[in-house]
Amino acid sequence: MMKYVFVLVLLAVGAVAGVQGLALLYRWTHNMEQTQRVMPGEMNFAMAPGSLPRTGGQLYYPKEQRDAAALRKNPVPATAESIKKGGDLYVVYCTPCHGPSGKGDGLVAAKFVTPADLANPALQKARTDGYWQSYLSVGGAVMPSYGESLSAEERWHVINYLRTLAAK
Ligand code: HEC
Repeated sequence: MMKYVFVLVLLAVGAVAGVQGLALLYRWTHNMEQTQRVMPGEMNFAMAPGSLPRTGGQLYYPKEQRDAAALRKNPVPATAESIKKGGDLYVVYCTPCHGPSGKGDGLVAAKFVTPADLANPALQKARTDGYWQSYLSVGGAVMPSYGESLSAEERWHVINYLRTLAAK
């Protein structure tokens, strides 16, 4: 007799624990649905007063829009200072392939793809500053992109330096 009572109590306790467990599980998995929330795009929030704009990276044109990028004017005047900055960057980033003179005789180029002669006056004339700056930003067919290692302004400095190569 006592055996049956024991089993019955056990079953009752088990049933209660089971129901509570299920209730807990249900609330656990549906918790986020029951809170107050804003659906994406449902509301537009104004910036809190006193918020400061964040200066982020500059956007640049993707490779497919190089024609549009080519129309941009060079915002950095080709001062001696700018050319010096560009030249210093050129030595670090570009000489391995393009060589010190820009003619494409860098040490890497010998074992890689020979790049265009950047000092070639015809090429210099055919390309706008905007085109070349975009080329540095996103890279070419095999040339790496410098959009991350050089800032937009630094890329313009490099272009100002490239323009001096034609004369040499
Ligand atoms: C890994 C080798 C490599 C490095 C490093 C490199 N280039 Fe190039 N570059 C090339 C190759 C190869 C081309 C030819 C186009 C192509 O295949 O991408 C090229 C093309 C170019 C062009 C386009 C010429 C045209 O057709 O108008 C410019 C401008 C240029 N490079 C400038 C630079 C500058 C500036 C740097 C340094 C910031 C640099 N490159 C670094 C390999 C390189």
